[in-house]
Amino acid sequence: MNKADKIKAEDRIKKLRIEIARLRNLYHIKNAPDITDEVYDSLTRELKDILKKYPEFNNISSPENRVAGKPLDKFKKVKHEHRMLSLNDVFNEEELYDWEKRIQKLVPPSPFRRGVEGEVYFCEIKFDGLAVSLIYENGIFVRGATRGDGFVGEDITENLKMIESIPLYLTSSPAKGRVGEGSYLEIPARLEVRGEVLMQKSIFEKLNKSQEKKGLPPYANTRNVAAGSLRQLDPQLVKERHLDFFAYDMYSQINFKEHSAEHEYLRNLGFNVEKTEAVCHNLKEVINFIKKFEKIRAKFPFGTDGIVVSVNDLKLQEILGVVGKAPRYMVAYKYPAEKATTIVKDIKINVGRTGVLTPLAIFEPTLVAGSTVSKATLHNMDQIERLDLRIGDTVVIEKAGDVIPKVVEVLVKMRTGKEKKFKMPPTCPTCGGKIEKKIKNPPKTPPDLPLSGEEKFGSPPDKGDLGGLSSSVASFCINKKCPAKNERYLEHFVKVFEIYELGPKILRRFKDEGLITDAADIFTLTKEDIAPLERFGEKSAENIIKEISDKKHVSLARFLWALGVLHVGEETARDLATHFGSLDKLLDKRYNKSPKSDLWLAEVDSIENIGPTVLKSLQDFFSDKNNIFFIEKLKNNGVIVKNAEVQKKGKFINMNFVLTGTLATMSREKAKEKILSLGGRVVGSVSKNTSYLVAGDDPGSKFNSAVKLGIKILNEEDFIRLV
Ligand code: IVH
Repeated sequence: MNKADKIKAEDRIKKLRIEIARLRNLYHIKNAPDITDEVYDSLTRELKDILKKYPEFNNISSPENRVAGKPLDKFKKVKHEHRMLSLNDVFNEEELYDWEKRIQKLVPPSPFRRGVEGEVYFCEIKFDGLAVSLIYENGIFVRGATRGDGFVGEDITENLKMIESIPLYLTSSPAKGRVGEGSYLEIPARLEVRGEVLMQKSIFEKLNKSQEKKGLPPYANTRNVAAGSLRQLDPQLVKERHLDFFAYDMYSQINFKEHSAEHEYLRNLGFNVEKTEAVCHNLKEVINFIKKFEKIRAKFPFGTDGIVVSVNDLKLQEILGVVGKAPRYMVAYKYPAEKATTIVKDIKINVGRTGVLTPLAIFEPTLVAGSTVSKATLHNMDQIERLDLRIGDTVVIEKAGDVIPKVVEVLVKMRTGKEKKFKMPPTCPTCGGKIEKKIKNPPKTPPDLPLSGEEKFGSPPDKGDLGGLSSSVASFCINKKCPAKNERYLEHFVKVFEIYELGPKILRRFKDEGLITDAADIFTLTKEDIAPLERFGEKSAENIIKEISDKKHVSLARFLWALGVLHVGEETARDLATHFGSLDKLLDKRYNKSPKSDLWLAEVDSIENIGPTVLKSLQDFFSDKNNIFFIEKLKNNGVIVKNAEVQKKGKFINMNFVLTGTLATMSREKAKEKILSLGGRVVGSVSKNTSYLVAGDDPGSKFNSAVKLGIKILNEEDFIRLV
């Protein structure tokens, strides 16, 4: 190679780099590319070719190795315009038919209600990835966000721009198919596209091979890698992961009649929309679709965990509405979980933040449904007895669509006689404290809805820290100073406050070093406390302190959730926050012995979804002086609790509404929203303080109570007129 050639090459590389950087910047930051992709690709190809010949000019921080979109310090929070919901699951044909029966009853007289066949259902693949929301303004991708808690997600726009299959610009082109063959597509001023970010199975396998070569542990599954990648602050890392995006839903001003038309529209706009989908005339066809896909599922390039079945007609969808966190008009049919066998090496006890003792089976690591499993919760002693599980047993473990594995069967025939029975320890295994038996998962106020099987099918239970199980009796460590409990509580607290820098290991270290004794101490930490610790240093100390200080402002709902009141999870905390509006109002009447305490109890009791067990738990918590001191300490240490938005104006101010029965033209959630937006409250039970009972079809016992107490009763028409 002669020197002149080399110099020429170096010059060319420089030029190419400058131009590629400019184009990237136009494309990613300014959203205004002035050349076509082909030109860009061709320049990049040329650069790569020259670099192959002259590898000495390779430079990791050169533009072809980096992306535009600077690494961020953290993600911004964004409020979703439409709540991001979850789906209720069905596991077999019978449950699918039950769902149909239930929803047919909820719609006004119509062919669907009568079960007349037509293009009634829509089937599509349920991807096992991460839900994201993409906002387009006049066809330009302006914001992408994670699901978060469904209400508020994180702004990951820069990361999403690194996914090739997310169009940055939408252009109008002649449409194909039912959207209107030949006509130009309408690009609305504002369009929200929902879909799933995924990693192809083959890319995942390559990634794990390269991990292995580097002597690094393999990733568990495609979903985890995709999730981990989207959490990276440097978009370059996302680009390297070659993620994909599939669109499945949208919100805009365009009036489509069917969900299937929305799919076609999205496809026409250039989104990836999976072609394995079908409009079905009845559930038989739906079941055929489910069975057909099951056969090819293993070979499908992406991870899937079922089929999403929805009512195709968008008007019917609206009428059916949402209950709890999930729509009524859509269900996820989940394929049978994968099973594997393994040996139980030990049963350990895990002490949770509420003090609950949970037995945990420790296995020989085994591969199930694509990931390695080495432990599973056994929930409680009842479960161990039901399974007749002993240490040393060979068991069948199952991993459903979700990620939590469970023991489903003991292979008694595999016993050698050396297996050992397990007994719950008489005292807390961490602190030796006293153990008491209590209810683990209280039922919520029974929904006064004439929907059969609603409890099982409807909104998932508010998990608190207890994992969403049906209620059962469990052992609790009642020592307030139990270190395991305190540690779990600290972990819960920082998770809810979103102080990501403080992982479990760091928290334990700070405790051991005496820097913190409780969660409130976190807010008095200084850089000087942390920097001198071994393995920390200035920079990480600074990051920790900055994040803690950034998270001092917290919503009332989050604050209440963080307090860790037994049975008070995210949803209940939110209900309390919207009811009281401010911490002061909530604390004002709390004391047990004060004359106001009865008022407080009655008020909390009136909140929809709060049942007697939660009420008792709230009472216990707020009448314990230590807890009040803790709240004061948090405030003194700089935590600022933001008031919840409570409507102060509106014609329903100071009015309490109770809902019963089924409304034909709107969902319960919609009715509730309307009342709240006019300043009213929706409470769970009828009392003399009830202003109106809104009664739909098949009202429950609340109707009789209202009649007895002489409360005004509104039928649906009256209600609609009133709002
Ligand atoms: S529709 C109502 N369609 O499933 C919310 N979701 O369990 C469902 N998902 O968070 C939106 N594939 O991440 C829909 N074809 C599909 C889907 C799908 C996967 C995920 C989505 C959602 C979760 C709910």
